[in-house]
Amino acid sequence: MSEPVASRRTVLCCAAVALAGATAAGCSSGSGKEEPKSSGPIDLGSASEVPVGGGKVYREQAVVVTQPAAGEYKAFSAKCTHAGCLVNGVVKEQIQCLCHGSRFGISDGAVQDGPAPKPLPEYKVAVQDGKLEVTK
Ligand code: FES
Repeated sequence: MSEPVASRRTVLCCAAVALAGATAAGCSSGSGKEEPKSSGPIDLGSASEVPVGGGKVYREQAVVVTQPAAGEYKAFSAKCTHAGCLVNGVVKEQIQCLCHGSRFGISDGAVQDGPAPKPLPEYKVAVQDGKLEVTK
């Protein structure tokens, strides 16, 4: 009775190896299918929506923009470095991830509290005609 189980395991194992091989072959084929690079600045709208001493999370773009001091804007990835949740907002000069409680500084994205192991990656941000432009 144990033979059919072993056979199924063998089939599953071989299928997994075949899939892994196909994936590896696809990766090493040099087909040019790499992560898409940034296609230019992302327009996030009016800079006036980002309060001084606070920030705004742009969930669709996975970006958080802060304004630590008047006229000084910073942009970071909104993807928490702990487990990948999107950060929820900016409260008391900290970018907050409510998944497990990590908090990041609004001026440098540095971890200030919680399980996150690394700062939020920083992006370039500029203000053009009153609008925020972020380049990942
Ligand atoms: S994913 Fe943000 S604290 Fe865990």
